Amino acid sequence: MRLLIHLIPFLPLFPSLFSSLFALSQTTCSPQHVNDNDDNSSLCQLHQFQLKIDHLESVLAESIQNLTEKIDRIEEREKRIDDMTQKIHHLQSVLSTLKGDSLATDERLRALEEEVRLLWAASRKYNFDLHVLESKAQDAEDRLETVASQAQKMADVVTEQWIQIQRLEQALHITQMRTVRVQRQLTRCIFLKFINNLSDDPRLKTLGPNFRSYFSRALHQFKRVFAEFKRSHHELQHFIKEKLEKNEFTAALANEELVFFMASALITFPVMSAWMLLSSKLTN
Ligand SMILES: *[C@@H]1O[C@H](CO)[C@@H](O)[C@H](O)[C@H]1NC(C)=O
Ligand SMILES: *[C@@H]1O[C@H](CO)[C@@H](O)[C@H](O)[C@H]1NC(C)=O
Ligand SMILES: *[C@@H]1O[C@H](CO)[C@@H](O)[C@H](O)[C@H]1NC(C)=O
Repeated sequence: MRLLIHLIPFLPLFPSLFSSLFALSQTTCSPQHVNDNDDNSSLCQLHQFQLKIDHLESVLAESIQNLTEKIDRIEEREKRIDDMTQKIHHLQSVLSTLKGDSLATDERLRALEEEVRLLWAASRKYNFDLHVLESKAQDAEDRLETVASQAQKMADVVTEQWIQIQRLEQALHITQMRTVRVQRQLTRCIFLKFINNLSDDPRLKTLGPNFRSYFSRALHQFKRVFAEFKRSHHELQHFIKEKLEKNEFTAALANEELVFFMASALITFPVMSAWMLLSSKLTN
């Protein structure tokens, strides 16, 4: 079947073959020879036909040879076409695979681009946040420095004031000591003046002579006693201090000033009381 199909292109060759065959038969044996000898003529024609058949056979063989060669070439081409078709199929499949790969690659690429975009955005945001934090930290540092310098200044002021307070306390202490000393002297002076005034008091002059002499004697006696007391004033202070210190509740009060005033009060109280009593009697 396949051979027949391949023979189709060579069909036009066959009419040419038969026309050449007819031409040969017309030219070789002439009609006058037929009349001369029929046998010879028949043989001649037969011979002629034999020759023609031989020639035709050789042409046919050559044609078949040519045809076979052509068929071989065609088959070879068909084989090459098949090979090329297979190659084309292979290439098409490779191409489609590549296209699929390319699609996947494109998708992956787009995803990566999106990821990179997001990362850029995040990076910008982080940079901004970092900048804000840095400026805040700088502000805090500045404030800290300001506060630290203020604190240092205040500490200096406090130290200076503390020194001044120390000086003032010392001055106050010295003043207190002086005041105490002056008060002691003043108390003694007032007391002595009071005693001296007693004898010169004009109210004594209104009393009777007996009473006056009695009073001046008493006063004299008292002055003597007071001189004794004055001498032993220090001893009295010592005595009071001891008594105060023996009791646990009064021990805290046993300072120098209180002891002095208690001793003075012990001395002046009786005299003052006597004078008050006497004055009230005299006024009435
Ligand atoms: C037949 O004819 C040929 C020439 O065409 C000739 O040579 C030959 O001798 C003839 N034969 C006979 C038997 O006549
Ligand atoms: C066969 O092929 C040759 C060369 O290709 C050519 O010259 C010749 O005429 C062919 N013969 C026939 C019968 O076609
Ligand atoms: C002493 O007497 C004078 C006048 O007689 C009087 O001014 C003075 O206040 C008196 N002093 C005391 C401590 O009583």
